[in-house]
Amino acid sequence: MGRMLAWLDERFHVIKPHRRFLQRRIPDGLNYAYCFGGLAFTFFLVLAGTGLLLSIYYIPSEKEAYRSIVMINETVLFGWLIRSLHKWAASFFIVSIILHTIRVFATRSYRPPRELNWMVGSLTFLVAMASAFTGYLLPWDQRAYWATEVGTAMIQTIPFAGDALMLAVRGSNEVSGATLIRFYSIHVLFLPLCMGLLLWMHFHMIKRQGIAKRL
Ligand code: HEM
Repeated sequence: MGRMLAWLDERFHVIKPHRRFLQRRIPDGLNYAYCFGGLAFTFFLVLAGTGLLLSIYYIPSEKEAYRSIVMINETVLFGWLIRSLHKWAASFFIVSIILHTIRVFATRSYRPPRELNWMVGSLTFLVAMASAFTGYLLPWDQRAYWATEVGTAMIQTIPFAGDALMLAVRGSNEVSGATLIRFYSIHVLFLPLCMGLLLWMHFHMIKRQGIAKRL
């Protein structure tokens, strides 16, 4: 096994650069609170993996969505497990991001030169919230429908552009099949791509700047 890895790496050359990337100096006196960022990233990976698997059976259509969820729960091998993992990872993802933000705030690590990374981090939080909101509609049951009806109705209260914005989000006057497809596309394509890009920026800056010294 070791020789095969060595043979592969001679051609592929990833082990050394990765070691240089992952094994870095960190300041003295860090504690477990510094793990929340990595924990959030771990949940993000679980979400991506289980989400990919769910997309094999989930059908984003007005007529089929609910039935496909019932099928995932009852017929698909380990479907219930993959779906539960996706739901739980989503909750823990949000909690980890919040704890991570509190850690960064409490250690005042947002100060220069890390202010841009704080802003990029804030955007990841918005993307995470939007992912939770769009994902909530996908089971297409009563709870999902009415939560989205109420959530999107709030957009209407925005002065001047409220009506037009609500129509753009829903794709029709009421929450409908058009909303479902829209939310599905945003949930599985737009937002994960945005998150990937933002996390790349986040990690790139952490790599360049290192972890801030303890106060
Ligand atoms: C998906 C969400 C996020 C992930 C996966 C993530 C991941 C990470 C990781 C792995 C670190 C290294 C240190 C640590 O783990 O504590 C870090 C540092 C940092 N994060 Fe995040 N983060 C996220 C969201 C946020 C948010 C919402 C903010 C602020 C609004 C933020 C601001 C920062 C800053 C300023 C640092 C540098 C801290 C230092 O040098 O001590 N991050 N992030």
